[in-house]
Amino acid sequence: MYRETPRPPARKKLHSEPKRAPRARRDEVWRSLFERQSPAVALGMCQEFQRGIALAGLEAARMPRPRSLSRRLHDLCGWRIETVPGLIPAAEFFALLRDRRFPSPDWIRHPDDLEYTPEPDAFHDLFGHVPQLASAKFGNVLEQLASAARGADAEELTAIERVYWFTIEFGLVRENDAVKALGAGLASSIAELDRALHAPAIERRRFMLSNARQSPFETDRPQELYMVADSLEGLVADLHIESWDRVRRAG
Ligand SMILES: [Fe+2]
Repeated sequence: MYRETPRPPARKKLHSEPKRAPRARRDEVWRSLFERQSPAVALGMCQEFQRGIALAGLEAARMPRPRSLSRRLHDLCGWRIETVPGLIPAAEFFALLRDRRFPSPDWIRHPDDLEYTPEPDAFHDLFGHVPQLASAKFGNVLEQLASAARGADAEELTAIERVYWFTIEFGLVRENDAVKALGAGLASSIAELDRALHAPAIERRRFMLSNARQSPFETDRPQELYMVADSLEGLVADLHIESWDRVRRAG
């Protein structure tokens, strides 16, 4: 069963309003999710993601406050957290990334509903994406995606959203002869992380830009297809502007 809706840069109309925790209980919710998720992340996420958790200073005790986390990230790597009320259009999303700002809501899911949120909440964005932002290698991947979206028309934006989805949200990566996860949607969902790495009946396809651009995805159910990058460094090269130009010319 699907347990987590990650942040899609494509902003669809959503089927239900998220149930939000009262502000007084957000640290309690954060702690529950953090403690539940951490053992799975330690086993299943790639080393660079885990390094990012430490660099960003994420801890179970308290949900990071956007302003102080943003200051810390900016000093560390130049990224800031941009608090947004909800989902935003893809062009706006990638424009924020070009400015090294990552959008996140300041609410977290309700304690009665820890398993599911119909919209990405602060846990998804801060636990799933902030470790990526804290890593220069991930930052380079985001930079390439954001740069590819500059001036893109609607059709091209759809292609770029797909690539974002199969890398930053749900991507896998080869690491020391094993397959690990790199995507934020996997880091913030135990069920989907386990599925991506271990479920027998799903496809794990080697990441190729030309193929990812043409592969649709669903935002409201578990993925049937995951893509495996050879390495984070290789992914940066795969997403270089010259690679985009080459696949666009090839049609
Ligand atoms: Fe996300």
